[in-house]
Amino acid sequence: MAFDDRVVHRSLRCSFERGRISVILGGSGSGKSTLLRLIGGLVRPDAGRILVGGSDVTQLSDERLFEVRSRIGMLFQHGALLDSMTVFDNLALPLRERGLGSEIDIASRVREQLASVGLDDVEALLPGQLSGGMLRRAALARAMILRPEILLCDEPFSGLDPISLRRIEALLAGINERFGTTLLVVSHHIASTFRLADQVVLLLPGRSVSGPPGELAASADREVSGFFDEGSPLEYRRGLHEAARVGP
Ligand SMILES: Nc1ncnc2c1ncn2[C@@H]1O[C@H](COP(=O)(O)OP(=O)(O)OP(=O)(O)O)[C@@H](O)[C@H]1O
Ligand SMILES: [Mg+2]
Repeated sequence: MAFDDRVVHRSLRCSFERGRISVILGGSGSGKSTLLRLIGGLVRPDAGRILVGGSDVTQLSDERLFEVRSRIGMLFQHGALLDSMTVFDNLALPLRERGLGSEIDIASRVREQLASVGLDDVEALLPGQLSGGMLRRAALARAMILRPEILLCDEPFSGLDPISLRRIEALLAGINERFGTTLLVVSHHIASTFRLADQVVLLLPGRSVSGPPGELAASADREVSGFFDEGSPLEYRRGLHEAARVGP
């Protein structure tokens, strides 16, 4: 996959187990978000196949792609909800677009979905009127409104305080457990990765490595295991001193 002459993935081969939680790790710019966008059919690769539940999304007509996309929920880093619409209307939109149920059915489904992420009394608010943690939960509720088989999450923990982070983590684990939803989670958060991931797919320059998090963390390959070192606070502070000393 390349944008103009900037190659993002070359000969990338990876797979994600149905019904499991996979975490995608990799440096900034390694192509994690692009990988989710490819799987969700939002961008097309220059070559290769992307099989989603048996269908190659690179070969589908726009109509079939729309169908496959309703089996895929997406929780994206930015712009997850439309700012000019209430939370209620944001959640109702995918149902209305597909003519799924009467307005009464839609209302009860939206409320049930909001309650499942612990949000009551926010349906009349605009996204901008929610706190960061609430906004993330509302976006998760929206991503799940069509009960997708696959949920793609791009950095669902970024910018959250530890309590909101644990809450999103628990919601994701609960979704996987209750509905058997296949989760693909892009994250920089190593502690969450250990708690959540059945499998890690690590994107490295020119290659990718997959396996259970404990196995990759114990790898003799330092390029792999190095990803899991968060370092001790003391080492971190020493690093900061050194970083501050080097300079122009
Ligand atoms: N629409 C686009 N047009 C041009 N280049 C793009 C586009 N989307 C991504 N890229 C480029 O592709 C590369 C990978 O980007 P991507 O957003 O997938 O990285 P990432 O691993 O998600 O990084 P981060 O951890 O910083 O979010 C980057 O070099 C980026 O500039
Ligand atoms: Mg990204």
